[in-house]
Amino acid sequence: MNDDNRRMVVVSNRLPAVIHPNEDRWEIEAGSGGLVTALEPVVQAHQGLWIGWPGCSEEAPVEALLEQFGQQRGYRLLPVPLSEDQVQGYYHGFSNETLWPLFHDLLGHCRFDTGTWKVYREVNDLFARVMADQLSESDLVWVHDYQLVLVGDCLRRLGCHQRLGYFLHIPFPSPDLLRRLPWKDEILRGLLAYDLIGFQTLRDRRNFVNGAAQLPEVTIIGRQRYHTLLQVGERVVRAGHFPISIDVSDFERRARAPEVDEAAWYLHENLEGRQLILGIDRLDYTKGLQERFLAFERALEICPEMRGKSSLLQIVVPSRTDVPEYQRHKEMLDRETGRINSRFAEAGWVPIHYLYRSLDPVQLLAHYRACEIALITPLRDGMNLVAKEYCACSLDNNGVLILSEFAGAADQMGRDALLVNPYDIDGTAEAICRAFHMPQEERQRRMRRLRQDLRRNDVHRWVDLFMRNLLAVSHRH
Ligand code: UDP
Ligand code: G6P
Repeated sequence: MNDDNRRMVVVSNRLPAVIHPNEDRWEIEAGSGGLVTALEPVVQAHQGLWIGWPGCSEEAPVEALLEQFGQQRGYRLLPVPLSEDQVQGYYHGFSNETLWPLFHDLLGHCRFDTGTWKVYREVNDLFARVMADQLSESDLVWVHDYQLVLVGDCLRRLGCHQRLGYFLHIPFPSPDLLRRLPWKDEILRGLLAYDLIGFQTLRDRRNFVNGAAQLPEVTIIGRQRYHTLLQVGERVVRAGHFPISIDVSDFERRARAPEVDEAAWYLHENLEGRQLILGIDRLDYTKGLQERFLAFERALEICPEMRGKSSLLQIVVPSRTDVPEYQRHKEMLDRETGRINSRFAEAGWVPIHYLYRSLDPVQLLAHYRACEIALITPLRDGMNLVAKEYCACSLDNNGVLILSEFAGAADQMGRDALLVNPYDIDGTAEAICRAFHMPQEERQRRMRRLRQDLRRNDVHRWVDLFMRNLLAVSHRH
């Protein structure tokens, strides 16, 4: 069969649609975020199928809503309904209290619990069963992210022979860190059931290859620029790195719209005569928000000319609100903002504008356009798409990007961003002062290069590279 005619089956924890109650009825709308934007056009082009958890309560008329949504978007959506206990154990529990912190090198946040591990396995198996009923021989299957590591292995056990690709959107930990996980061998073997395993960075790929090489059945048989070949018993598995990106021309086009222009102007008019420093993050302890606030506070101490002339605009998007760790983190951020603002605020000037909500697309783009500096300082991040979106929307090439060296994006953007170690409060404060004083000519030179690189490496290239690698894997099961 011609590869272009193959059906694409995408599987992710969440479906690319959000179902929510509105007064006395249920509504469905398109989901947001990088994964959806990246994959939807490919699924549409291949008359594909998207399988995932609908993320809403069990009483919603999920099937009907998804059918209506799928007809509009030109592909099928298939739900994997989960019970309350399954959501608790698989999603809040093992995915977000074990794998998420461990893979972000934050061992202190990890909870290891055999109960949630069992539910994780059970739900991965459930995803595989829903899929197995749907798959035909020639389908290309692409599974996404840490919530679904074991799906490939479950599919193989159910007798599925299709080519299976997997992409991990978050970092992969070093073998030393992974050893802490009581079920590390099951996780590694789960990943090795796929034909192609994609990571964000070379470092993640190396961490995985070094971890997998410790299993007796694995031999490294080849290393190339973008992938490593592993012999696993009779099979050859490819582990590659494919940094995800954004639809650059779409962001540029939307950022130019008159309503965005107006909203950006209004934002700045309200905070006139200031350089605005932007932070946009989900509420997550991996994003380094506390350290960022401390660094901004230090910048106001060592660079007093910034007082009254610069504000940090921090948007924090609510996330995983049922996980206690996230609730505690929010309380701490509320306290820190209050403390810093009460220390420095003057009549007509507040140092930190802190919003705990998501932005609609026009406001999001307006923030990207209006802010002179982006301060993106995660303690660890698979990629960080906000960094890429900020640059794509810097239409006048006027923005300065301050970026954590521990974000995957630093691999591609490190030369022209101001790279910082977010644990180094003084160093980050100095970078903030440097950005504040950066001459126009230097800003433009750096941002122009960032945007040129981004245009060359957009999300379409990411999908294309992954797919070509998946089709190139010699395939015998
Ligand atoms: N985003 C959004 N609404 C908001 C703020 C951000 O949809 O109010 C999007 C943003 O455009 C980006 C994504 O959320 O595409 C965040 O991705 P990133 O890789 O930066 O971090 P993640 O949340 O995946 O850890
Ligand atoms: C990160 C993960 C995604 C996840 C997203 C939002 O980007 O890599 O898999 O979907 O965060 O988190 P949530 O738990 O709300 O799906």
